[in-house]
Amino acid sequence: MKLHSAAPSPFVRKVRIAALELGLFDRIKIIDTMVAPGKTDDAYGQSVNPLRKIPALELDDGAVLFDSQLICEYLDSIDGNHRLFPAEAEARWRVLSGSAVANGMMDAAVLVRYETFLRPEDKRWNQWIDEQWVKINNGLVWFNQRLPEAEDSVEGIALACALGYLDFRSPELEWRREYGRLAMWHDSASARDAYALTSPEG
Ligand code: BEZ
Repeated sequence: MKLHSAAPSPFVRKVRIAALELGLFDRIKIIDTMVAPGKTDDAYGQSVNPLRKIPALELDDGAVLFDSQLICEYLDSIDGNHRLFPAEAEARWRVLSGSAVANGMMDAAVLVRYETFLRPEDKRWNQWIDEQWVKINNGLVWFNQRLPEAEDSVEGIALACALGYLDFRSPELEWRREYGRLAMWHDSASARDAYALTSPEG
């Protein structure tokens, strides 16, 4: 299998952690793929992912899976033990809801990064940037009150990737000062091998 990736992407990290947790990482070849606005790889859009997003997983038969959540679900199905996506309904809806919030926090944090790092200063829309921060902060409040039950569910993995990306690209946020329960949860999750091996800070 080939995983189209960019090293700093929190969504790619989510898939890498899932593969490591499931013991499938050795079956995956990492392919560096450029997707930043203004520098996108056109051939990738034509031959792999029409949306030109990463991650995308090319299977050995040529089929391509898009989107980190779907790729994680596929890897979990190879393992067959419902480790990332619980089978039981109540646990499953809880994990899927939590991972949707964490994925949204990652989306907002990546958009802020693009807006503040790539877009020329005189063209920035500060109100829009502030609205992304509100989403991120609301997510931090939500998780601080409702920690994931498992560090290695797709919810726990997505949350650790969202928090790790904030530390990596937006350390000035200092989210640990206000969200002590979440900080303790993240310290514990980050000690797992799969998380430490994929830390965006290297
Ligand atoms: C980043 O540099 O922060 C980044 C790169 C690719 C995808 C997402 C984020």
